[in-house]
Amino acid sequence: MAQQMKTVAVWFILLLQSITYGERTRDKMYQPIVGAACFRRLNGTHQIGCSSTYSGSVGVLHLVNIEADLDFLLTSPPSPPYAPMIPPHLFTHRNLLRLKEAGPDIISVVLLINRNSDKMTQFSHELNCPNQYSGLLKPNISESATCDASNPPNSWNPWGTGLLHQDFPFPIYYIADVNETQTLVNCFEKFNNFDYESHALRSLCAVEVKSFMSAAVNTEVCMRRTNFINNLGSTKYCDPLEGRSVYATLYPRNSPENLTTEVPRSVNTAEKFILVTTRLDTTSMFDGVGLGALDSLMGFATLTQVAHLLRQLLPPQGSLPDPRRNVLFVAFNGESFDYIGSQRFVYDMENLVFPARSTKSTPISFENIEFMLDIGTLDDITNIKLHTLITTPLAQDFLKKLNNYASSPRYGFNLDIQSDVGIQIPPTSAQSFLRRDTQFPALILNAVPANKYYHSIYDDAVNVGFSYANTSRDYISLIDVSESKNYFNATALQMKVANVSSIVAFALYETLTGLQYTGNKVANPLLADEFLYCFLQSADCRLFKASSYPGSPSGLPLPPMRYISVLGGSQESSGWTYRLFGYLLSQPQPSVAKENCTNLPLHWVAGINGTGECRLTTQSYMDALSPAFLIENYDWRSGKYSTWTESTWSQFSARIFLRPSHVHKITTLTIGIVVLVISFCLIYIINSRSDVLFDDVPASNAAFSRPTAC
Ligand SMILES: *[C@@H]1O[C@H](CO)[C@@H](O)[C@H](O)[C@H]1NC(C)=O
Ligand SMILES: *[C@@H]1O[C@H](CO)[C@@H](O)[C@H](O)[C@H]1NC(C)=O
Ligand SMILES: *[C@@H]1O[C@H](CO)[C@@H](O)[C@H](O)[C@H]1NC(C)=O
Ligand SMILES: *[C@@H]1O[C@H](CO)[C@@H](O)[C@H](O)[C@H]1NC(C)=O
Ligand SMILES: *[C@@H]1O[C@H](CO)[C@@H](O)[C@H](O)[C@H]1NC(C)=O
Ligand SMILES: *[C@@H]1O[C@H](CO)[C@@H](O)[C@H](O)[C@H]1NC(C)=O
Ligand SMILES: *[C@@H]1O[C@H](CO)[C@@H](O)[C@H](O)[C@H]1NC(C)=O
Ligand SMILES: *[C@@H]1O[C@H](CO)[C@@H](O)[C@H](O)[C@H]1NC(C)=O
Ligand SMILES: *[C@@H]1O[C@H](CO)[C@@H](O)[C@H](O)[C@H]1NC(C)=O
Repeated sequence: MAQQMKTVAVWFILLLQSITYGERTRDKMYQPIVGAACFRRLNGTHQIGCSSTYSGSVGVLHLVNIEADLDFLLTSPPSPPYAPMIPPHLFTHRNLLRLKEAGPDIISVVLLINRNSDKMTQFSHELNCPNQYSGLLKPNISESATCDASNPPNSWNPWGTGLLHQDFPFPIYYIADVNETQTLVNCFEKFNNFDYESHALRSLCAVEVKSFMSAAVNTEVCMRRTNFINNLGSTKYCDPLEGRSVYATLYPRNSPENLTTEVPRSVNTAEKFILVTTRLDTTSMFDGVGLGALDSLMGFATLTQVAHLLRQLLPPQGSLPDPRRNVLFVAFNGESFDYIGSQRFVYDMENLVFPARSTKSTPISFENIEFMLDIGTLDDITNIKLHTLITTPLAQDFLKKLNNYASSPRYGFNLDIQSDVGIQIPPTSAQSFLRRDTQFPALILNAVPANKYYHSIYDDAVNVGFSYANTSRDYISLIDVSESKNYFNATALQMKVANVSSIVAFALYETLTGLQYTGNKVANPLLADEFLYCFLQSADCRLFKASSYPGSPSGLPLPPMRYISVLGGSQESSGWTYRLFGYLLSQPQPSVAKENCTNLPLHWVAGINGTGECRLTTQSYMDALSPAFLIENYDWRSGKYSTWTESTWSQFSARIFLRPSHVHKITTLTIGIVVLVISFCLIYIINSRSDVLFDDVPASNAAFSRPTAC
């Protein structure tokens, strides 16, 4: 009988509980929100980026339409912490620093929303002086000489806010999808946007963001912790930024190395290279967003097209005036983070380990480099300059060649390239070479800065005005100068890339052959069209298909990620670059059948018709990992090499829910406690009066301990 009573009592408790907690269960309904998180990176001395708290940061949604809305949150927040939803035009340096100063008790999450109505005039998260501390140094001062950070209008990124290099005490989540933004706004309007005095008493629409970063302080601390723990278990707190640079030579190298001996590697001093380089990567504040359309894709497209054009114009190496001359094209990865790729290249050349021994060719050293032509940003092609540290006959001569073609009526490019001599050189890969030796013959092609969205989520196809022509015509063959205007407007992006590529390629042609280029063939703007479509809109594209093995799986219908990432990251863009160099810079071998075209350097590619063709290729990868991670006992604070690492994290997620008010929480808790006490007393009373209420006393009673509460 007592058993029955106990069962009744338990049911009674459950019933009461379900009444009091019922509402809360409904409130707890979560709705996930899709977006991209800002994450943490570390260098030798600092941490930058964002992290949530370990269990996730929660804030009440508040839509910020004008600056006054922020003032309201910061001066009299009725029920903090808040999660302001900020439209891009208010996502400024000043506003974010104010939010940061308010502290995580007031502002716990920041959401950057995408509202189509916003017309922004500028949005760059990079510093005014990109890679400020890793370029050429002023003599005896550990400060970069090439950019004056105290004079932003005269810097390499006048619109830079430097937010990418700030450390934030709250997560920042970017919501690109306008429908997701609408969901947030609706929730805010329905539950939060009225009667602010009673905020503390109401349930409010809140967002929870989980993006906890396991590394903190700086790379030194993180590497020490990682190595220490690694001896015991295998927890990683951070990974060095690491990827692969891609290089290829114009002519196959004929400089085999004797692998049978144990003697140190030696250089073949007869070999001479012209180094033509550019940057492969880009970056932004948010994970997986940011195409770097103008900041580096323009230069990269140009380098690829120059390579392809030279491949088709030049005679065999044997018939050059100097048959030991070659061109080495390199696309450096990780340049956005203190020149990782070029620092490593310089380090490897100094140590005679470039190219790797596995390539079975002799190493290349500085002695082999005749000069370097570095292609930087090409924001405005009517305003390109050739930068050098000092005036040299080489630079003057090359500039003359460039302008010969740029202004020639035969081609009608109608451009004028100016010379710019002095210590203010652009933040490009050449800085790594000049830092080692200011006498290094580096020529840098770079336009006057005009990109208002440098290193941001908005440097995309819209920023460069790209529209895919999709002509399905032959984009591989060179084109006649008269025909090239048939497919595009004179000012189209494709024409800009093709025109600059032609000028650079012709100047290099003249350098190599000693003869002026007098042909009518120019770079094909259709190749630029296909290239830009692949990198800006979809990796499932004609050009990538043509450079892959026939029938291999096509790319995803998204643009490839061009952030360097870490070991085990996607490495998509270097993979595609490798294949592109393999296709565009190789020589067809029509006499080699498919079954005999299996071992590198022979490579079987689909080709423009997808039918398959054998090609003699020259491309290869090289590691883009900063030398700082190779040198034992490297001084992380020295600033000699890039020290960037990326924190590890377990998840990125965001969701909205109704956060119960404090009053609600307290009421719920109080009712819970009261119910608990009542039920204990009830059981105690029933139990102690059981001999009166029921006749027999079961043995199980003994198991009931005496409650102490009543
Ligand atoms: C690390 O980054 C911060 C912020 O950009 C910078 O001030 C500092 O000089 C950098 N430290 C090193 C060692 O590169
Ligand atoms: C720089 O330092 C070196 C030695 O450390 C010294 O010989 C040289 O005069 C210094 N140059 C300047 C411009 O101070
Ligand atoms: C947003 O919602 C509208 C209407 O529900 C729908 O037509 C549209 O495709 C959605 N857009 C995206 C990007 O999901
Ligand atoms: C490589 O070196 C060994 C020993 O020095 C020599 O016997 C051999 O002929 C060399 N091979 C080539 C291809 O030069
Ligand atoms: C590119 O060159 C063509 C002539 O070949 C010229 O008509 C056109 O204006 C040029 N376009 C740009 C953007 O320089
Ligand atoms: C390009 O054109 C082909 C047909 O010629 C079409 O199937 C394809 O969808 C087009 N691609 C784009 C991105 O417009
Ligand atoms: C070329 O430019 C004109 C005006 O600048 C524009 O009306 C036209 O649509 C453009 N044509 C193409 C193919 O983009
Ligand atoms: C492949 O190479 C072998 C040996 O060089 C040759 O005998 C054979 O005929 C080649 N196959 C074809 C299809 O050309
Ligand atoms: C592709 O096919 C077209 C016609 O079908 C042909 O004219 C062209 O030469 C082919 N190109 C290659 C590279 O095989």
